[in-house]
Amino acid sequence: MVFVAAVAFSVGCKCEKETAKPDVPPAASTATEPGATTPAPTSTTTPTTSFAPTPRSGSSIARSPDSKVLFVADEITSKLHVVSLPLGESSKVESVSLPGRPAQIVVADDLLWVTIRDPGMLWAAKFESGHVQNTGQVALPSDAWGVAITADHSHALTSSAWTSQVSWVDLQKLTVDWSHDVAREPRGIVIDENGQWALVSHLVGSALTKVELTKGALDGGGAVSRIALPASPLRAPHDGLNASLGYAGALSPDGKRYFAARHALGALGKNSWFGAATVDVLGLDDWSPLAPMRPEAPLEQKSELATQLISGADTRVPGSSLTPFVQPRAVLYRSTTQTLLVAGEGDDRVAELDAMALDPTMAVVGHYQVGADYHPTYHLAKHCAAPAGMALSSDENALWVYCGATNDLAQVQLMPPAASSAAAAPTGAATSAGTPAPTAPPSPSPPSSAPSTGPAVTPGVTARLLLAEDPLGPGGATGRKLFYNATDFATSGGLGCAGCHPEGRDDGHVWHEANFTTEDGDTVNFVGSEHTIPKEAHTRGYARRTPMLAGRVNAEGPYGWHAESPTIVDRELKGFALHRWGAIPETPKEELTKRARAVFDFLRRGLLAPARDGAALNPQQARGQELFLSKEVGCAECHDPTSGYTTRKAYPLPLRPLTDGFDEDPDARYKIPGLTFLAGRTPYFHDGSAATLEELVERNGTRMGNTGTLSADDRAALVAFLKTL
Ligand code: HEC
Ligand code: HEC
Repeated sequence: MVFVAAVAFSVGCKCEKETAKPDVPPAASTATEPGATTPAPTSTTTPTTSFAPTPRSGSSIARSPDSKVLFVADEITSKLHVVSLPLGESSKVESVSLPGRPAQIVVADDLLWVTIRDPGMLWAAKFESGHVQNTGQVALPSDAWGVAITADHSHALTSSAWTSQVSWVDLQKLTVDWSHDVAREPRGIVIDENGQWALVSHLVGSALTKVELTKGALDGGGAVSRIALPASPLRAPHDGLNASLGYAGALSPDGKRYFAARHALGALGKNSWFGAATVDVLGLDDWSPLAPMRPEAPLEQKSELATQLISGADTRVPGSSLTPFVQPRAVLYRSTTQTLLVAGEGDDRVAELDAMALDPTMAVVGHYQVGADYHPTYHLAKHCAAPAGMALSSDENALWVYCGATNDLAQVQLMPPAASSAAAAPTGAATSAGTPAPTAPPSPSPPSSAPSTGPAVTPGVTARLLLAEDPLGPGGATGRKLFYNATDFATSGGLGCAGCHPEGRDDGHVWHEANFTTEDGDTVNFVGSEHTIPKEAHTRGYARRTPMLAGRVNAEGPYGWHAESPTIVDRELKGFALHRWGAIPETPKEELTKRARAVFDFLRRGLLAPARDGAALNPQQARGQELFLSKEVGCAECHDPTSGYTTRKAYPLPLRPLTDGFDEDPDARYKIPGLTFLAGRTPYFHDGSAATLEELVERNGTRMGNTGTLSADDRAALVAFLKTL
């Protein structure tokens, strides 16, 4: 176990104080919570009793300020669940139907706000005498997802993921003051204590968006800028890396640091073909990354370093151990221990990390296994699969976790501050970093016998509650779990489908499909960067940009960039072998096919395509359509409008210069891609070589059809039409 900084007890929270009252009563008082907590042994050592208020940043789960209930945004059944505390089988659950799929909830006093994806809106409600009462809503750009409120509760900033916008909402009047375009897939939001600025994380790309809130209000527009935060520079061959899965960020209570939990594409580490999970820290005094960059080195040195990092021979080299969590989905700051809690969607665990570290993923305090009751052949949890949201108790000793693949809740007793600071869990419930445990973990921890010092506290799950059965039925439900899971060794070698196809969308990354030698002999695998391929292989791999799946898998086939897989199931079987380091552990073909069919069921019925606005084409878009369909421009010949804008045939377009870092694929025939949902899935082509549609059309000439003779207005019209598809 790696642990660097000592953890202090004092709470740096500037926030309003709440009364010191444990949310989770001592075990003796509730029969349904076998291991429920005794108050943490901090009262004698902690001079102050300032407790965490309800956070101002949204999550799929939130606690009411009086700790009487939890609110859960259930995207699967489009409901808001109000769950009475203490959590257990006897918890009362009141479910309110929402006007669409919810994403995040934020709570202030007796008010709550919920983002709704489609139709995009912020749904407002009051919580009174145990009931939630809708008090109004305000329309937001479609696919509203993230929300955070100002400290005075007067405003909220929301993010609309698919439509790439942020909106500033007056919460008293329930009106949108302004919306602003930002980069692709804005997600998690934090707002500073004084309501001056907000930081927005993105599902695609490593840079953050900074929004000047007050300036925006004055100018009627919101001023946005990009803040560079390279992913995991300590595990990068140079410069820092690109990132994906930036669902969430957190602020330290003193407002000095911002933590971005995400996935570093191409991060180096032993067998780390997929990269590594990372928490990148931005220092807010000077708005610069905390971890130092490697100086630009000559190519030879870079590859030397890469070899060192991927061989794992030197355990002092950062990144030589495997990733401490998989597919980060939510992050919280725990002030009593100055640690970060990160929910790993792929490994059904919550990791606790030292927030004071330069790179918190290299200072793992421990893990809480929330997934339980694993299937005997599939490594899939029956309870709490794919943790997606977290809420802390007011004394920060308990954590409630919402699990997105099983639609249930787990209550976790956290390590007491003393244990966290000693960097050791008092029991086996919290384990050190490493590969996700392949064996089934125990169900709720039994009460521990008293350790030699302090009262008995067993970290781990102490209660569970199922919210709703999966409406997809058993096949689709298994497919849903497989889609998120990264620990079933047959389908994945460490990164679940959702790791590259988040929510069935895409990571914006171009993967390297490379043939090299591993412990299993010669294999063809995906790797995140050419630096991870062993030097002896003398290859950098072929370019494979991740395709979007949601709403784009209705055709019978073929699938794959070379149209080489006749059906999705064939493609998945091919993928199972590619997404790993080495070969698939021996598994009968019919077992693999069963899994592929279950996932296929989920892809078609469970993934939800982004909403289209359905508006009639404006004159410019109509002109673009006319050009697209015309013989002269000739797009429709290959991009057939009657079948998702593709004939699905592979076709060799004239070659373009090779993209940096890749080898020339000897097969130049690529499947004519369907053009649906184009606007939201940059960059384009199998190698990501066109960053925008404007650029693609500008440079096209006679390569695809003929755009070379079009006027600037007509090119713009064509692009405008493509963006409506
Ligand atoms: C490491 C990233 C990664 C992971 C993990 C991953 N994919 Fe993919 N997926 C890709 C890339 C890249 C392609 C394009 C590869 C190609 O066509 O050669 C792709 C292609 C596909 C396609 C074909 C789409 C089309 O339009 O042709 C399907 C279907 C698919 N993936 C499903 C899945 C499923 C199901 C899983 C989980 C079992 C999964 N993927 C896991 C990156 C990934
Ligand atoms: C001869 C067949 C053909 C014609 C005609 C054609 N395309 Fe394509 N198109 C392709 C192929 C093949 C690809 C994939 C190439 C690659 O990935 O390297 C592609 C890719 C694209 C993409 C990128 C899609 C993605 O998902 O990355 C866009 C956008 C596109 N075409 C637009 C057009 C437009 C606009 C026209 C008319 C001006 C056109 N195409 C005409 C064959 C064609």
